[in-house]
Amino acid sequence: VETRAAIRADLGDCTRCRLCRTRTHIVFGEGAADARLVFVGEGPGFEEDRCGRPFVGAAGQLLTKIVAAMQLSRESVYIANIVKCRPPDNRNPQPDEIRQCLPFLKRQLAAIRPRVICVLGSVAARALLETDMPISRLRGRFHTFMGIPVMPTFHPAFLLRNPQRKRDVWNDVQQIMKRLG
Ligand code: URA
Repeated sequence: VETRAAIRADLGDCTRCRLCRTRTHIVFGEGAADARLVFVGEGPGFEEDRCGRPFVGAAGQLLTKIVAAMQLSRESVYIANIVKCRPPDNRNPQPDEIRQCLPFLKRQLAAIRPRVICVLGSVAARALLETDMPISRLRGRFHTFMGIPVMPTFHPAFLLRNPQRKRDVWNDVQQIMKRLG
């Protein structure tokens, strides 16, 4: 399989969709080459676009705490997004933007071959699983993508506004921990 460096080189200074016009940095993703767990978010926000790294803003700090609660380090997992460039004003990525970008995430997943994917939030879960079911119905059970078990859960940004949903996320990540063994 390809290396992540080869995939990154192919992505280049991407102009495949309109998001290239408003981004500052491409946010390719980061983490361990042999990660057993990959987190997939929706797309870079303001802070991520500024520094070129995924989940470094307020939601990212909560994600880092969730990873620690799973007895894992941020460095040992891999973190990426459905789209690699920030949608202006944090709007949802559009279907054609997802279509252009998703093949790169698929290649990253093929290179890493994690045991489990945790997909964060409704927009990312629907894009990855090609469904329009609400996240409240998708979360809490395993789905499959590229033959890899996928657990959808609430997005950490949603948890910041709805902390009472942290119990549900704890349930979901405990299922992941069991699967990782
Ligand atoms: N939200 C996301 O979905 N992804 C990031 O990288 C940051 C915030």
